[in-house]
Amino acid sequence: MSSWTLLTGYVTIAFLISLGGSYRVAQPAPLKVTPVRVAPVKVKISALGTYVPPRLLTNADLAKMVETSDEWIMQRIGIRERHVVDKGVATSDLAVEAAKKALAERGLTATDMEAIIVGTVTPDMLFPSTACLVQNKLGATGVWGFDLSAACSAFVYALQTGAQFVATGAHKKVMVIGADVMSSIIDYTDRSTCVIFGDGAGAVILEPAGQDEDFGLIDFIHEIDGAGGCSLYMPGGGSLHPSTHETVDKKMHFVHQDGGAVFKFAIRKMTEVCERILQRNGFTVSDLNLFIPHQANKRIITATADRLGLKPENIVINIDRYGNTTAGTIPLAMDTARQEGRLKKGDLVLLASVGAGFTVGATLLRWAY
Ligand SMILES: CC(C)(COP(=O)(O)OP(=O)(O)OC[C@H]1O[C@@H](n2cnc3c(N)ncnc32)[C@H](O)[C@@H]1OP(=O)(O)O)[C@@H](O)C(=O)NCCC(=O)NCCS
Repeated sequence: MSSWTLLTGYVTIAFLISLGGSYRVAQPAPLKVTPVRVAPVKVKISALGTYVPPRLLTNADLAKMVETSDEWIMQRIGIRERHVVDKGVATSDLAVEAAKKALAERGLTATDMEAIIVGTVTPDMLFPSTACLVQNKLGATGVWGFDLSAACSAFVYALQTGAQFVATGAHKKVMVIGADVMSSIIDYTDRSTCVIFGDGAGAVILEPAGQDEDFGLIDFIHEIDGAGGCSLYMPGGGSLHPSTHETVDKKMHFVHQDGGAVFKFAIRKMTEVCERILQRNGFTVSDLNLFIPHQANKRIITATADRLGLKPENIVINIDRYGNTTAGTIPLAMDTARQEGRLKKGDLVLLASVGAGFTVGATLLRWAY
């Protein structure tokens, strides 16, 4: 209801009361004053922390498990090794380590956070949410939070979701985490999937940027296309196929994918959203300092970058060291860029992802510190 409608209603009721006639109406509640809508606050990433478990799973290790080779994996995907957890280590554990590093970098404690958003497709369990487990392990009392499911686009989706709370002024400090233990849902007898994925996590802190600061998040484009659901999915364990002996026997608790379909969609859509987001913000590819894409396959990244006309020095690739860690790839790639001295204050950075769903995302930002 608009304030104008409210106002006219109030005036009418007041008029009827003043008549003092037979129209006996209840005393109206005082008119609510709607606060003037303020311009959204600018939002920046103020800290970054990442974590991968120490245990390495190399191509040579995989070649002992399935019929594959280092040469095939390097050539077709670009992965040399990935990190995997030991038994008993879960997504929340990786997320907590990444979060602690981000907090330490910014000199904050967990209780300084107001919300925690965890992007993941491998929660410790269906419920409670991984965000609750992370909150408890961090001792982040007074914080609220939730999990967000968008597969490989989960980090960029969580980033923008968290940013909305800061942009509206609702919160001043939001922790956004992308974390996955993909090794928990991989069939290590299926050579077409087991060579791709790894485990890892990244966390960022979102805070308001000064209105005069030219740093922070600039724009985002997100799209989902559920028609692609059958190309990359894990069928078992949900309400459609609850866990039974049969779902286990049929390997329904593992990642299933049509690699070719994902490959083509990823290149087409990442290119499209990247072109759109640059164009609508008045930038060209030559303005970009860094392209930090989701790390699914080196060939997907280079084909997308070629189509966009990006130079190799502007692209961040670390899939060789980590594999596809799903929600963890983009913060891990940010960290790689930083360690290599390639991510500097004021840099124009483009993040892009495609994941199961399909989910598509692009975020344009200026690195703020
Ligand atoms: C999965 C993927 C690496 C397969 O690569 P590809 O070049 O398309 O290979 P194909 O599926 O055409 O298979 C080519 C051959 O290699 C074989 N092959 C598949 N995996 C192999 C492996 N790990 N080692 C050796 N050979 C393998 C196939 O069986 C096939 O053999 P055939 O010709 O005798 O049938 C690729 O399609 C891909 O990366 N897709 C995207 C997946 C992805 O990114 N998922 C996550 C999205 S967020």
